Amino acid sequence: MNDILPGDVEVWQHVERTARELFGRFGYAEVRTPMVEDTALFVRSVGETTDIVGKEMYTFEDKGGRSLSLRPEGTAPAARAYIEHSISNSEPLTRWFYLGPMFRYERMKTGRYRQFHQIGAEAYGSKEPAQDVEVMDMVVQLLQALGLTDVSLNINSLGDDACRPAYQSRLVEHLRAHSSELCADCQVRLEKNPLRVLDCKNERCQQIASAAPSILESLCEPCRGHFAEVQRKLDAVGIKYVVNPRIMRGLDYYTRTTFEFIASHPALGTASTVGGGGRYDKLVKSLGGPDVPAVGFGLGLDRLCLLLKEGGQQYGPSKDLFIAAADEGSADVAFALASRLRREGLRVEFDTRGGSLKSQMKRADKLGATYALVIGEAERQSGQAQLKPMRGGDPVPVRLDEVAQTLRNAIKPS
Ligand code: HAM
Repeated sequence: MNDILPGDVEVWQHVERTARELFGRFGYAEVRTPMVEDTALFVRSVGETTDIVGKEMYTFEDKGGRSLSLRPEGTAPAARAYIEHSISNSEPLTRWFYLGPMFRYERMKTGRYRQFHQIGAEAYGSKEPAQDVEVMDMVVQLLQALGLTDVSLNINSLGDDACRPAYQSRLVEHLRAHSSELCADCQVRLEKNPLRVLDCKNERCQQIASAAPSILESLCEPCRGHFAEVQRKLDAVGIKYVVNPRIMRGLDYYTRTTFEFIASHPALGTASTVGGGGRYDKLVKSLGGPDVPAVGFGLGLDRLCLLLKEGGQQYGPSKDLFIAAADEGSADVAFALASRLRREGLRVEFDTRGGSLKSQMKRADKLGATYALVIGEAERQSGQAQLKPMRGGDPVPVRLDEVAQTLRNAIKPS
């Protein structure tokens, strides 16, 4: 679990701001759910035999004897809220997004943490391929807005109740031939939930999984049609993708379309999946809600920020002005001026420790202030001062009661 310190927080805020603004353009509204839910919610949705529920949840008993878990993901809590507040009665096509910490007891490495953060979106009420493409388009546009170009979209279809059982039989047949080589967990999965063998992290299991039959060959006609239409619409919108039958997603609630956004930057090491999602047409009903189809995604905010930091760009706003007091007698006037200018909307720094003019100017330099203004006896008497551009250029004369106006004309809005 990481501290995110000033310097990095600005990168996070930039991503969050960009996402909020962009998702708003797509008509998605923010939802905030608690960090803790009934354990049963995740068992019933993500699935008992998944790594997430079976091994990675922070589960505890509260004082009332209830089993609670820190949320390992955002889809199940959002669906719970959607059902609990009967949202489908008032809004048949509901578009939500969320942003916040999730918890998984995973082995730590670069880009994989026990408290991590997701930006996610969920759309309830449309079974149409256009809805699948809309949510993928949101991610594509977000990555573009962030300048992250080296990310590829991988898509797959996991079929539905009609065709998945046939695929499971074919898969089980393949896995049985290697059952003695599977890890202990996968021996259990083979019996209980064979699809989950395909996302086991064990090396030998992965080798066996890579030789398994492709799910795409087993799709029924309606699922095949849905998947073809998703691809046609992605083409129509101009979104590039690759069809990858290995995108199984590691969570049980998916039906039909699944997708992952995979980055090829070395900064992420093997934690290269920056986001994933898919359709889950049965989940809301299975949790006791109406029969409402849904599709969504979750993006790893920590991973996006790692990629952005690699770019080396500065995201925090710089200080507009540093006000220095040339002598002790000018400190009050300088301090009051700083206060007034902040009220007028400027980002102003003043060193409350006082100190020599030289040390104050050194700090102005270090902070990267755009301008510095020195207040001394002469400035107090005349009501005039010089705005000194810190990155070179001629000083600008300014009246002390017109600093905000002059600065605004001098600096471009940041
Ligand atoms: P997920 O693939 O489990 O999907 O997680 C989504 C993203 O969260 C991953 O692609 C990754 O970037 C990030 N992530 C996951 N675990 C960690 C970790 N331990 N440390 C850092 N980042 C991590 C879901 O959670 C689904 N709820 C997505 C979804 C929404 N499907 C439909 N709607």
